[in-house]
Amino acid sequence: RKKAAVFASGAGSNFQAMMENKLVCDIVLLVCDKPGATVIDKAKKFGIPVFVFDPKQYPTKLDYEQEILAKLQFAEAEWIFLAGYMRIIGPTLLKHYRKKIINIHPSLLPAFPGKDAIDQAYVAKAKTTGVTIHYVDEGIDTGPIIAQRQVEILPGDTKETLKMRIQRVEHQLYPQVINQILGKQQGVF
Ligand code: GAR
Repeated sequence: RKKAAVFASGAGSNFQAMMENKLVCDIVLLVCDKPGATVIDKAKKFGIPVFVFDPKQYPTKLDYEQEILAKLQFAEAEWIFLAGYMRIIGPTLLKHYRKKIINIHPSLLPAFPGKDAIDQAYVAKAKTTGVTIHYVDEGIDTGPIIAQRQVEILPGDTKETLKMRIQRVEHQLYPQVINQILGKQQGVF
């Protein structure tokens, strides 16, 4: 089985969805840039090793990404799944994991990239938003798109109800896409 690491900064609902769905790969490491984030407790509950770091403790992104790279290599992770990791991936990781880093973003890219994409769509009074899964490149939410799902913004929606419906789609779609991509590479499909 292939080995993958998940990067997350927050609540970890997508991480949890990966753990609760049968993935064709093993999650061997959680990387978290927010000491105290809920996702850390979730990883411990599932018995997944965690590397938590505080970017402020490092002089530059190069320094902490070199440390992340060492942890990834020790864990023999071949893939990286970003699940609410609110940082731009730098050249150190991009170089070693070309086309092996996947991100989920809560909008129909290229609409509403960056932070608070759900709020952005809500405030803009868009009729439709959604979920995008894409390969990561050096830009912010710009890499090649793998899959998209539409989510309608309903007249009665609050930001919270919209977020709930978007995340429900995320929790289904992300494990499915991971299995499709990694499965193909194993010649399963
Ligand atoms: C998810 O909705 C994900 O799409 C988003 O952060 C949330 C993390 O939730 N990612 C981004 O906005 C990336 N630009 P979670 O911690 O409960 O999985």
